[in-house]
Amino acid sequence: MFESSPEGATAYIDADVTAPERILEAAGETLDFGRPVALILSNILGHVGDYDQARSIADRLMDALPSGSYLSVNDGSRGIDPVFEQAQDAYNDSGAVPYNLRTLEEITGFFDGLELIEPGVVPVTQWRPEPGSPTLEVIAEHGGLARKPYSPTGRRSSLLGQPATCRATGCPRGPKCRGRPTLHRDRMT
Ligand SMILES: C[S@@+](CC[C@H](N)C(=O)[O-])C[C@H]1O[C@@H](n2cnc3c(N)ncnc32)[C@H](O)[C@@H]1O
Repeated sequence: MFESSPEGATAYIDADVTAPERILEAAGETLDFGRPVALILSNILGHVGDYDQARSIADRLMDALPSGSYLSVNDGSRGIDPVFEQAQDAYNDSGAVPYNLRTLEEITGFFDGLELIEPGVVPVTQWRPEPGSPTLEVIAEHGGLARKPYSPTGRRSSLLGQPATCRATGCPRGPKCRGRPTLHRDRMT
């Protein structure tokens, strides 16, 4: 898997998900950010305890990618299985690297400003099952897939090299804005 071939290049980087700039810098050595990229954040954002920080990481990574790129996120979720939630809480209390289960609304929030692909954010066992496959039970793991829009009202195409905080002149939200065009798209274009 880690060997490049004529069909395409493969690379591995060892980086902290809370340092998206480092990830983008290293990924840019292999990926062409001028062409759509598929970004998969699978069971990783739960390791970022602060929800706003997790949102800003997903935003920052997607901001660096061009329109037509895709974001796939799946994370363990609250609100489905109380026994699982108790087990996760006990695991987190054990001294292990904590993993924070998130609500459906929180996981859906990672796709804010993007075009969610049907069927939206659902338990992963319900996301486009193979026709004719046995019905799988609903599990406490939600996921979705969304495309970065071409519309000028969507997220900006590329902010590579710029900080995740907002630089819009006069933006009343300051760094909390994180450059989210949906909050003040008139200033961000
Ligand atoms: C729940 S596992 C998910 C693994 C895989 N992505 C998947 O979906 O099967 C979480 C992974 O994130 C890694 N991890 C935890 N905190 C991290 C961090 N701050 N930066 C990068 N990786 C981290 C863990 O080492 C582990 O490999």
